[in-house]
Amino acid sequence: MKRDAYAECLHAINAIWSEEGGSTLDDIALMATINSVLAHRFDYYFWTGFYRVCGERLIVGPYIGTIGCLQIAIGRGVCGTAAATQKTVIVPDVTKFPGHIACDAKSKSEIVVPVFGPDRELIAVLDIDSDQLDAFDDDDREGLERIVALFGS
Ligand code: SME
Repeated sequence: MKRDAYAECLHAINAIWSEEGGSTLDDIALMATINSVLAHRFDYYFWTGFYRVCGERLIVGPYIGTIGCLQIAIGRGVCGTAAATQKTVIVPDVTKFPGHIACDAKSKSEIVVPVFGPDRELIAVLDIDSDQLDAFDDDDREGLERIVALFGS
């Protein structure tokens, strides 16, 4: 079910990207497009957005949701941990993750996926929060990792 939904999202993002000359655009345009497709497809998503790697910090990029933190040090919080380890982090209960940065008290669980550019360099992380506990699993991880692979192609 979730797998089908992620496959549909990938298809939709690919279609709009190729029809509208995506390869002539930039990462911000792709981030905004991914956010829009995902945030409207999954009702358990509460906050959907990107933090971009800028030196030693992550700086907020396009997002859909309530006000997010503007900057996060690499290594701090869930986003900074995913950036430092370059691995997807799934947090079933944010109150149990040491150092979790709470931007909105409604956020209960979270997934953060590293985003790599064409030279396999880390360029951003995709952060998705849910207002439900334990909202994310391996199907979300696989679906989202496939979608952010578009930045490397
Ligand atoms: N919770 C994140 C911070 C970003 S917000 O959720 C939008 C973290 O701990 O890195």
